[in-house]
Amino acid sequence: MQDRTPRPEDLEPIERAGVDELRAVQLERLRWSLRHAYDNVPHYRRAFEAADVHPDDCRELADLARFPFTGKAELRENYPFGMFAVPRERIARLHASSGTTGRPTVVGYTREDLRTWARLMARSIRASGGRPGDRVHVAYGYGLFTGGLGAHYGAEELGCTVIPVSGGMTERQVMLIRDFEPEIIMVTPSYLLAIVDEMQRQGIDPRTTSLQVGIFGAEPWTEDMRREMEQRLDLHAVDIYGLSEVMGPGVANECVETKDGLHLWEDHFYPEIIDPVTGAVLPDGERGELVLTSLTKEAMPVVRYRTRDLTRLLPGTARPMRRIEKITGRTDDMMIVRGVNIFPTQIEELILRTPELSPHFQCVLGRQGRMDTLTVKVERRPGVAVDAAERAGDALVGLVKNTIGVSVSVEVIAPDGVERSMGKMRRIVDQRPAV
Ligand code: DLL
Repeated sequence: MQDRTPRPEDLEPIERAGVDELRAVQLERLRWSLRHAYDNVPHYRRAFEAADVHPDDCRELADLARFPFTGKAELRENYPFGMFAVPRERIARLHASSGTTGRPTVVGYTREDLRTWARLMARSIRASGGRPGDRVHVAYGYGLFTGGLGAHYGAEELGCTVIPVSGGMTERQVMLIRDFEPEIIMVTPSYLLAIVDEMQRQGIDPRTTSLQVGIFGAEPWTEDMRREMEQRLDLHAVDIYGLSEVMGPGVANECVETKDGLHLWEDHFYPEIIDPVTGAVLPDGERGELVLTSLTKEAMPVVRYRTRDLTRLLPGTARPMRRIEKITGRTDDMMIVRGVNIFPTQIEELILRTPELSPHFQCVLGRQGRMDTLTVKVERRPGVAVDAAERAGDALVGLVKNTIGVSVSVEVIAPDGVERSMGKMRRIVDQRPAV
């Protein structure tokens, strides 16, 4: 793999700033952001008053803990534009996150917000190993989803050549990678696997393509998946995180030289980790739910937004800004089977250690009597004999029992048996009858 470490002189000064300088910038911006939300969004004024706090009460960063949380429910109640803090004519763009049920969550950006987003995405792509002049194949979906357009403007901002492919038409994705020779691909990890399978079907060795860096996010993926992708494609697999409510992709990104968790761009977002049950703020290093407060957003400031993503805050390494550990799951992705909490990423880890099985899998939840059951439907790798894959499936049952402590069934199915997604993979299929 090529060395893709950015040169120190290419970083923005704030990326190299010391922690004291960073905290001072954050406090000033936080005070502005709280005031902006309070003055311009009726919801925040009401919520602050109900909690008996005022923006002036924020004198140091820790004071943020006195302010109320914001959740998806509040955004839904104010559908579509009630959370906006600027007049409608200053909104330059809308995006929305696909609600699986009911209304989507709508987010808005001013021109300045779009510039900030593009700069943070450019910073993220540079941290991933991208350079001006690189060709960037964007296979995140374009549209209301923030992935495609977020990646697009960031790559342009960095001075790259953007290839705006969007998701889908997998055969064509392969042709464009072969013919346009991009150095970088930005795509969900699960869709990347579908593209790699298609390369192999066409007789192309994925290690021989022009790709040097993959910037993968929008869904959880594990260290074992990183090894799998780096090995199969001979590229740097780097993690990118973000969410529509807070901006879109580019809230945090790994650095290619360390790949040790995602540096959170703290000059624009203030992170806290809370106990998801009590809401108490936890010290750095402890695992819990990530809560984010925007520091510079004009159109839609968010105060203590509960992401539902589970991680922990770690000190900076390649950059002084703090890191979040790779996200293992969401509070609402957690399956409880016979009292044991499991996330699909734990299953992924074990599948990837079983060479006969492919990383295409789904967790099907069912019910037997009053007990929830979990069936892991997993494809055998192409070329592996059915009986060898069946034996590996039986071994996986034992592996899950021994490492996670729960009994599951494993159903090994033919390659291509799990529905492919062009974007985020649906890992959990809930077939439990409604009660
Ligand atoms: O998924 C934004 C995005 C696009 C991020 C492209 C990265 C790349 P939403 O559709 O609003 O926005 O979904 C946000 O996706 O709260 C996480 O649960 C999950 N997620 C995003 N990135 C990661 C990641 C985009 N790197 C939700 N690891 C978030 C794990 C991720 N989960």
